Amino acid sequence: MLTEFGLRHPRGETRHLYGAGALEGGLAELAPALAGRALFAISSRPVLDLHGARLEAAAAPLGGFARVLEVADGERAKSVAEAERLWRELARAGGRRDSALLAFGGGSVGDLAGWVAASFLRGVEWLQVPTTLLAQVDAAVGGKTAIDLPEAKNAVGAFHHPLAVIADAGWLATLPRAELRSGLVEAVKTAALLDLALLARLEGDLDRLLAGEPEALAPVAAAAARAKAALVARDPEEAGERRLLNLGHTLGHALEAEIGYGAIAHGDAVAHGLRFALRLSVAGGGDAAFAARVERLLGRLGVPPLPPAGALDVGRLIERIGRDKKARAGGVGWVLVDGPGRGRVDVRLDAGRLRAELDAWLGASRAASL
Ligand SMILES: NC(=O)c1ccc[n+]([C@@H]2O[C@H](COP(=O)([O-])OP(=O)(O)OC[C@H]3O[C@@H](n4cnc5c(N)ncnc54)[C@H](O)[C@@H]3O)[C@@H](O)[C@H]2O)c1
Ligand SMILES: [Zn+2]
Repeated sequence: MLTEFGLRHPRGETRHLYGAGALEGGLAELAPALAGRALFAISSRPVLDLHGARLEAAAAPLGGFARVLEVADGERAKSVAEAERLWRELARAGGRRDSALLAFGGGSVGDLAGWVAASFLRGVEWLQVPTTLLAQVDAAVGGKTAIDLPEAKNAVGAFHHPLAVIADAGWLATLPRAELRSGLVEAVKTAALLDLALLARLEGDLDRLLAGEPEALAPVAAAAARAKAALVARDPEEAGERRLLNLGHTLGHALEAEIGYGAIAHGDAVAHGLRFALRLSVAGGGDAAFAARVERLLGRLGVPPLPPAGALDVGRLIERIGRDKKARAGGVGWVLVDGPGRGRVDVRLDAGRLRAELDAWLGASRAASL
């Protein structure tokens, strides 16, 4: 079954097509918008090896790709060097204002391709064909693009909405379990804030979701993406309620930086960050039964525990939280969820309280890890 919805934004509207067969259906639907344009695919070797043949076959009725441009796999795609290489390859291959790029891969390929689409010749058209659950649930939705600097992740980028997001469920069958878990953590986050029917579906189908069954994953990806798109439409440039989606990310980003990118997966760091946010919500009078429900679901995902006692320096974590990209002049604004669908942005914590809560939580979560 295909799910289709739009996201209105200042440049127009992004079409979203989710489900089995979305690739062929989506490209056929876009044929008029793509007619006469040179189409450049951007992807990485592992994704092309697994799924490139199907992509090429689906693009054939549109005249195929002018070129398939290969970039480094994973987060290494999001570098200044890879962006420069793409700009220059596009220039050499005859890329023009009316060319279009097609990002084929996870969030890393999407973020890089989107940034190149935003900047090459001051902006060209592009499409997202996300192949990881995380990208279908989160990264491909909302028009944010970015590359990393050695100094900071996602430090250079732009809002640049694609023409369409074509999220075919077929790709998901080859995802390793850790990648599935990352996407599911973001889906739990979105569900707790915005879609309680999705939360119930996640609870009911979790075993099939973790087993990577595309029939179970497709409606989850579609529902999470639709909920995010609705929020983004109301707050395109993250001035207010879009910040809800940073739930779990304030501590999550600090954990990633402190433990080391690569040593802990983003989704796992966010899962721990979510648990901490739930603790803060309950301490502030939030719904304890709801927090326990979300904690139980996260527990079933099999997120690895945090490093053992002593390995995490609370002072350094707090320092990193203060340096968070999202922090503003007034300090760090936490996102909490006080009950079903009851998110709150911009919650301020004084330094003493944060330290006490982190100390207590780290002690407790080491004793009873996920
Ligand atoms: N723009 C946004 O709004 C936004 C939001 C969230 C995350 N992100 C970004 O997304 C990135 C993470 O994305 P990700 O989790 O998709 O990881 P990823 O893009 O780094 O991909 C992870 C791995 O999955 C492999 N892979 C991709 N598709 C596959 C498939 N179908 N089968 C098997 N393997 C496959 C890739 O080869 C890669 O090795 C981060 O850089 C993050 O900053 C962006
Ligand atoms: Zn995230």
